[in-house]
Parts: sequence; C-alpha cells; structure tokens
Amino acid sequence: MNNNQQRRSFLKNAAALATLVGLPAGRSYAKSDAQDLVEAASQTLPSFGKPVFGLRVLPIKQVRVAVIGLGNRGEEHVRLLNAVGTDKCKITAICDVRDEFAQKSLKMLKENGGQKPAVYSGKLDAWKELCKRDDVDLVTIATPWEDHVPQAVFAMQQGKHVALEVPCALTFEECWQLVNTAEETQRNCMILENVCYGDEELWLLNMAESGVFGTLTYAECAYIHDLRELLFSKSYYYNMWRLRHNEARDGNLYPTHGLGPVAQYMGIDRGDRFDYLVSMSSVQAGLDEFASTVEPDNEFFNRKGFKHGDMNNTLIKTARGRTILLQHDVTTGRPYSRINSLAGTKAFHKGYPSQMSISGQGHGFLKPEQYKEYKERYAHPLWKKLEPLAEKNGGHGGMDFVMLWRMIDCLNRGVELDMDVYDAAAWSVVTPASELSIQMGSVPVKFPDFTRGYWKNERKLGVMANP
Ligand SMILES: NC(=O)c1ccc[n+]([C@@H]2O[C@H](COP(=O)([O-])OP(=O)(O)OC[C@H]3O[C@@H](n4cnc5c(N)ncnc54)[C@H](O)[C@@H]3O)[C@@H](O)[C@H]2O)c1
Repeated sequence: MNNNQQRRSFLKNAAALATLVGLPAGRSYAKSDAQDLVEAASQTLPSFGKPVFGLRVLPIKQVRVAVIGLGNRGEEHVRLLNAVGTDKCKITAICDVRDEFAQKSLKMLKENGGQKPAVYSGKLDAWKELCKRDDVDLVTIATPWEDHVPQAVFAMQQGKHVALEVPCALTFEECWQLVNTAEETQRNCMILENVCYGDEELWLLNMAESGVFGTLTYAECAYIHDLRELLFSKSYYYNMWRLRHNEARDGNLYPTHGLGPVAQYMGIDRGDRFDYLVSMSSVQAGLDEFASTVEPDNEFFNRKGFKHGDMNNTLIKTARGRTILLQHDVTTGRPYSRINSLAGTKAFHKGYPSQMSISGQGHGFLKPEQYKEYKERYAHPLWKKLEPLAEKNGGHGGMDFVMLWRMIDCLNRGVELDMDVYDAAAWSVVTPASELSIQMGSVPVKFPDFTRGYWKNERKLGVMANP
C-alpha cells in the first residue's frame, strides 16, 4: 500500500470505529485519534436516574405480555409463554412486520388454549403502537439485532418492562442507552440469555457457589455453530439480516451464549467485573467459499470480501485477575460447542461432552458413577422443580421454557429478575469492544463500567438466592 492508500484505509477504519463507539462518523480522523477512540469507548457516562440493582416491582399476578418479532425465535417465545399458562401470564399483543408471521402465531395460540392477542403487522414501526397499549406489562423482543435498542428503549419509555434477545446492543453507545433508560424509567431490561438456564449451566453455577471449584481462575466458552446454510438461505432470516452483519463486521458477533453463564459463575458485576479484552480473528474463507455454492439468483452468489474472520478469539481479563477465552465461529464445519470449561483451584469442568475432574483424585476425569454423584448432589433446585415441564415443553432442551417460566414467576412474586440491564450491557458490549480491538491491531480495550462502581458489592444472583 502506498501512503495515500494507507491514509484512505485508515480514514475508512476511523469512520467505522467512530460508529462503533457512537462518536460522529462524518468527520475525518487523524491517526492520533485512534487511542482517543479506544479511551472514549471505555468512559463511564453520567446517569440521569437511579441504579436498578435488585429492582423489585409490585407483584403482577398475571403478567400481560406483548411479543415483537415472530420469526424463528419470537414464534418460540409465543409458544412457550403460552405453555407457562394463563394463570401466570397472558399474551395481549403480538407484532411482526410480516403479517403472515403474525397470523401464524395467532393461529397457534387460538388452537392451543384460545388466547387472542391483538395483532400489529404490515409496517416497520407497527411495534410502537403495541408498546403504547395499556394492557401490557412486559414486552419481549426477538427482532434483528439492529432493532433491539430502539424497540427496548421506546418500550421502557412507555412504562413497560423489557425482555430482550441476544445480543442486546450493537455499539458502546447503545449499551449505555439501555442502562440509562432502565435507570431513568426504573423498568427491568432483562437479557434473554437462555443458556444460563441450561441443566448443566445451573449445575455448574450451584457447584461454583458451593465452593466445589475452590477459587475460580479461568474459563473457556464459545459459540461454535456452523450456520452457513442458514446464513445464505434466502428465507430463514428476515431479509438475510444475519449474513449482512457477517459481511460488514469482524469481531465476536454473538458472545452471550458462552459468556453469560461464565459471567454468572464468576459473579461478574456482583463482586468482579470484566476489565479489558483483546481480540483477534483468523482469515475469512468460509463465507467467500460458500458464496460460490449458492444459487445464482441469491444476491450473495459469488460474493467475495466478507469481513468476518472464520474464528474469532477474544481474551477477557477480570478485575480480580481471572481470564476467559471466548470463541466465535459460525462458518467452519465443526460440531456445535459452547465449550463451557471452568477451572478453579479444586476442580475443573469441560463440556461437549461434559466431564469433570477434582484436585487430588488422580489425573483423569471422574468416572461415570462419581460424575453422576456430583450431578445429583449439586443439581440446581430450579431445574429439579421444572424438569418435567421443561422436558414436555422443550426449547433448546428445555432451557428456553425454564428461562421464560422463571422470568414470569419472578414478576408474579415481585422478586428481582435473575439478569438485569447491567448484565445485558456488559455481556453485549463484547461485540463492539472486540471489533474495536481488531481494527486497532488487537489492542487491549477496556470495558466501560456500566455499574458505575457498584460491581464491587458482592450480591447473590436471584436464581441462587430465591430459586
Ligand atoms: N437465545 C437463542 O437461543 C436465540 C436463538 C435464535 C435467535 N435468537 C435471537 O433472536 C433474534 C431474532 O432472531 P431470529 O432467528 O428469530 O430471526 P428471524 O429473522 O427469524 O426473526 C426476526 C423477525 O423480526 C421481524 N421483524 C423485522 N423487523 C421488524 C420490525 N421493524 N417490526 C416487527 N417485526 C420485525 C421479521 O419479520 C422476523 O419475523 C435475534 O436477536 C437472534 O440473535 C436467539
């Protein structure tokens, strides 16, 4: 590259970075601005409300729920909320820009118990009218990533609690918007991280809390899922929205399935916090190669130059000195894995397949009968209680049902939700922070402290304090 080319490439990157951190993208940046951008990203912004740690609202006997986005995920939200039962929650409104998707969910409800929510469809902003309704306590959102924050913020401003699909936000600025709006409106904004309710994850959480692992030192987690067929499908995702992110962005685009449970094992924002990360992506090849195999009438046929490296490795350091390796790979023919490894001074666990070793009991993993004994002794009470219903209703092996049942049950009882807006921000900000690190040459990027210092207080997770 000659000097002019280098300059042009840098300016293009600087503009993309500015968008990431929420700074104006239109101006030109000198090379010396690079460090400023990294620092700007990690700043703590002022609050205009009161903290929402442990937010409790009056018990809501029957939670009135509205659902926005009725595609692959939202349709499941409707099915499972219906399965939770009308004694606990009622679906009062549903919305999808595509009317046929809204009608499909409506039909499913009518045929399975007879609920008849109001339907909003046909317009990109029809969801606004749904958010304004008087008969809605909680809005769940399962739309493409770019719609999450505008919809969640508007819903909270209308006085509604929000349950938001993952990842919750795309930029540093969007993460702050969620935190500041929740604090201003004193509404819940729960991240719908279903993996935190998996049988194995709840078991590990219980063991970590009970001291089985000793002092926690290290974890490995991931989202490894070959999505190429789905990404390139013309009909699976609305307007192929997910492939467009992989086309334009490089970083860990989907961090929370692996990281959410690890954050809970380690008490992130409940005594520890994510301090900084460094991120590195491999070469991109999987998407370019797959593009040549799709039908010529696919707009991505033969497309080259996707930005998203096939394997993204992100290393996170916590304030208490722990480290986490977080991976993201959706374009390699590997078996599905979230890794789910956890290491402490007294024990080690790894997933896929699930195995565990205990310090002082030899160098190998526990024998099946010993493993079973740990599984039974530390089974989480929530999973034990809901297992038959989870098996009956399913949703990623039952974890989706357990998550929604639990969220509704907490609102019924007027107790705090298990995951709050600070979790939503800290887990989701990994995406723009990893993008920023990569664009700057894998430099360390500090996490903003969304809790404004409150992370230092040890707090028990709701799901451990009142399961
Ligand atoms: N937690 C999980 O296990 C899990 C699994 C799948 C997807 N997700 C998340 O769920 C979300 C949705 O993913 P998906 O796979 O269902 O995608 P999808 O494309 O199948 O569904 C999105 C739906 O939103 C609708 N939509 C788009 N713009 C809209 C608007 N302005 N107003 C109303 N509706 C609109 C689309 O018509 C579509 O039906 C994403 O955030 C994704 O990451 C989570």
